[in-house]
Amino acid sequence: MCGIVGYIGDRKILPIIIDGLKRLEYRGYDSAGVALVGNDSYFIKTKGRISLLEEKINNSYIDGNYFVGIGQTRWATHGEPSDLNAHPHIDCNGEIFVVHNGIIENYYEIKKDLIERGHRFLSETDTEVVPHLIEEYYEGDILKAVLKAVNKLRGSFALAILSKKERDKIIAVRKESPLIVGIGKNENFLASDIPALLPHTKNIVILKDGEIALITKDEIKIFDMQGNQIGIEKMEINWNLEQSEKKGYKHFMLKEIMEEGEVLKEVIRGRVKDEKIELNEIKDKDFLRRVENIYIIACGTAYHAGLIGNYILTDLLNIPVKTEVASEFRYENPNLSKNSLVILVSQSGETADTIASLRVAKKLGAKTLGVVNVNGSTIFRESDEVLQIFAGPEIAVASTKAYVAQILTLLLFSVYIGKIRGDVDEDFEKFIVGEIKRVSEFSEILLDKKDEYLEIAKEIKDLDDIFYIGRLLDYPTALEGALKLKEISYIHAEGYPAGELKHGPLALIEEKVPTFAISTDERVFEKIVSNIKEVKARNGKVYSIVRDDFKGIIKESDRSVIIPKTHIYLSPILSVIPLQLIAYFTADLKGLDVDKPRNLAKSVTVE
Ligand code: G6P
Repeated sequence: MCGIVGYIGDRKILPIIIDGLKRLEYRGYDSAGVALVGNDSYFIKTKGRISLLEEKINNSYIDGNYFVGIGQTRWATHGEPSDLNAHPHIDCNGEIFVVHNGIIENYYEIKKDLIERGHRFLSETDTEVVPHLIEEYYEGDILKAVLKAVNKLRGSFALAILSKKERDKIIAVRKESPLIVGIGKNENFLASDIPALLPHTKNIVILKDGEIALITKDEIKIFDMQGNQIGIEKMEINWNLEQSEKKGYKHFMLKEIMEEGEVLKEVIRGRVKDEKIELNEIKDKDFLRRVENIYIIACGTAYHAGLIGNYILTDLLNIPVKTEVASEFRYENPNLSKNSLVILVSQSGETADTIASLRVAKKLGAKTLGVVNVNGSTIFRESDEVLQIFAGPEIAVASTKAYVAQILTLLLFSVYIGKIRGDVDEDFEKFIVGEIKRVSEFSEILLDKKDEYLEIAKEIKDLDDIFYIGRLLDYPTALEGALKLKEISYIHAEGYPAGELKHGPLALIEEKVPTFAISTDERVFEKIVSNIKEVKARNGKVYSIVRDDFKGIIKESDRSVIIPKTHIYLSPILSVIPLQLIAYFTADLKGLDVDKPRNLAKSVTVE
């Protein structure tokens, strides 16, 4: 959700804040604002994108002597996107500036109380109670006032706070929503995600839940919520600036899809040696022998990767495996024990529902395994075991390269646990390693077929409804293909198990409602032929994403994209590539903002 940046140092503050906001715009983009404080102060905010904020700045900015600045790009929760609801928010005297990511659950009671005490509110946001509470408690020490204020708040919040009375510091507070301090030389930075820091520093401190940072030009001090100073844990980012830039591509989404071949090599680097899979990162290997049941928990695209992991684990092991969306799992009564394994799949490692599920699993005594992209993220830190997916920074809201990396990581894990438990023998391991080694090369073949995808995109771009069908491992691919299309092109798309078509959706099939049929498994190849015939009989057009040897399907389809033959466990990595690129070209042809689709955000840090 919202992106926060902060800077304190001798450089020009405003360009650093604006650049940081642009790098975090994927987190939210309905309004934006900045506040600068020094001998002078400057404060501006607006509904709309950062480009609009820049226009307004160009018309109003007066260069001054500023020492410190904060900014925010918003994804609205409380209060519609508007100039007044944009951040920063201020106290009655316009001396305290606050930007926030998260939700303050008890803001209504606090606001009522503050109004009775004479505070004047300007917005409908939950955030605005924070500067007023700080004002209420301020007695000459901003840190103490912030401590008192945040102890009154319930909910999730990352806050950055400036005061005109103490112009040499930023106070940053983290409860659940992420915040990272970037360490510079005679300057320091603050951001809710790594890309904003990459142009400046690789040395960071990731604030932990319940920590408050006092950031000056030369120093970073960390406190707990009671005000006790605690030690700081520095770490180095292993991403580089280039990875987080567009590198000449029109959109991040296209760049990220085109990186998939490389990412697939990264996932197996150091993990696949000779003919074996070794996951040295797993600390408690004995536990894998004892596991009695497995849950896979995730949201969105990561959930679809989880469904694929579910299939492979069920196929290889003799124990129950269940995949659930995190927002459901966290409120259920799952069958967990000390011999349960809960796998949390998350690109960002910061998705609120997935974090909550992780904590539920731990509370119930299960072992947790995070399958995460962002090193140092909450799920990365709080899981008992972690497998990083090494996809590099993913900026486009629609997840693509992380998805293929999640599938491959889950496959490596499935074979590995199968081997440890005696369910996978050396011959199968050797065979699957051979297939795994070829998947990157196969992906490049598919990444090269852009003209084919563009032709299909031209045909579907003006339609209103599209179905995606598949069976077995092709079913999650159907779900993911439909999700990609709907989230960025706004065409209504639904993924279905192919056999379910005649239990409802077939009623909607007609000339203008085409179907994508995904077919990579020979066991159900003939069934898909029948499903395609059912669609054709209703005048529906069929696009198939199909293995090169399934001639029957190719013959029945209006157009086919041919997928190289590989083991069924790996085909979901390949068959999703055409669907990602078709979604991309469709949205681009429609002139939509592919990287920042309406109403969505990259990292959903609120419930
Ligand atoms: C949001 C993003 C999706 C992502 C999902 C889960 O909805 O737009 O692309 O799949 O969150 O995010 P995570 O970071 O946990 O994988």
